[in-house]
Amino acid sequence: MNRTLVICKPDAVERGLVGEIIGRLERKGLTIAAAELRTIDADTASQHYAEHQGKPFYDDLVSFIGRSPAMVMVVEGPEDTWKVVRTMMGATNPLDAAPGTIRGDLATEMGENLIHGSDGPDSAAREIGIFFPALG
Ligand code: RTP
Ligand code: MG
Repeated sequence: MNRTLVICKPDAVERGLVGEIIGRLERKGLTIAAAELRTIDADTASQHYAEHQGKPFYDDLVSFIGRSPAMVMVVEGPEDTWKVVRTMMGATNPLDAAPGTIRGDLATEMGENLIHGSDGPDSAAREIGIFFPALG
């Protein structure tokens, strides 16, 4: 089996869309290997979003991801699970995300785009190690 990290971001929890998002992943055929509802502190957020440090949107991103609880999950599938999830998420900017995708169907703003998914096998391993060290 092959795993990736998924976060239902604070906006998803606030809007009551965690069930919808998990339901989509499950209907696709993926399974939840681990899950925790947690408020992501600034230190954890800075590790998770290290690649974005120094970018103009970085401070807003760290503050957003920690503003209220997020549902952090390890999602499992047969192969390239990170890619399956990224396809289901849609483009980063919901204005560009295709209908049928999570962001395309359910979001309208770049800063409130509901879901994070690792962007490759190396990021998946790194991010699972940050949030679920016992599984890393
Ligand atoms: P994520 O990491 O959250 O799954 O999203 P992503 O891979 O689709 O996008 P990424 O490039 O990693 O950016 C992380 C988050 O930062 C915000 N962002 N804002 N204003 C901007 O130009 C900008 N670019 C990125 C988005 O909320 C994005 O999800
Ligand atoms: Mg990303």
